[in-house]
Amino acid sequence: MDQDAKKKAVARAAMDHVVEDAFVGVGTGSTANFFIEMLAEVKGRIEGAVASSDETEKRLKEHGIPVVPLNSVNELPVYVDGADECTKYLHLIKGGGGALTREKIIAAAADKFVCIIDDTKVVKTLGTFPLPVEVIPMARSYVAREIIKMGGRPELREGFTTDNGNVILDIHNLLVLNPVEIEERLNSIVGVVTNGLFAKRPADVVLVATDEGIIDL
Ligand code: 5RP
Repeated sequence: MDQDAKKKAVARAAMDHVVEDAFVGVGTGSTANFFIEMLAEVKGRIEGAVASSDETEKRLKEHGIPVVPLNSVNELPVYVDGADECTKYLHLIKGGGGALTREKIIAAAADKFVCIIDDTKVVKTLGTFPLPVEVIPMARSYVAREIIKMGGRPELREGFTTDNGNVILDIHNLLVLNPVEIEERLNSIVGVVTNGLFAKRPADVVLVATDEGIIDL
């Protein structure tokens, strides 16, 4: 099975977690895009969606799915999103698409975070995928120097601005042996909006597409 077929299969599996007559949180990226297509098939049976990025909002609307702001939703039973890396502890690196801050906010607000990945994303230790950090533009150089002190090599994501008007530093060569500690440490640098480690609030369910079928990690 190719990677796109796996992404599609795992997106379909996530549909079992969608709650009828309720809002659903929707992530960003190619796997989440497949999920949007599946969601469109049952759009009459959900209240609508909360989008984790402008791009996702646009796609949801194109599929005729009502989109509401997170602030107007009292309860969000489920959030479905992809990831760039995942461990057996359900700790994640996210933000390859640059939507990490809104993704983290929706994951925090949701009762259940269902992460959908293909088997290439499962790793022993996080950090081979460069860890994205969203930074207020004026703090870019300062934050980069602090990251170097932590042993990482920050690289500015050229020509990219987040939906919140900020920049992304992708951290290379940072082996993430203690994800919760590193998540907290990065977030404590002044000027950091958030980072792509989802460890303090990991996924609740990780569905992995393999050649043999879908595994619940
Ligand atoms: C976007 C993300 C995505 O979930 C992550 O990059 C995975 O993307 P894809 O499903 O395209 O492999 O965190 O900010």
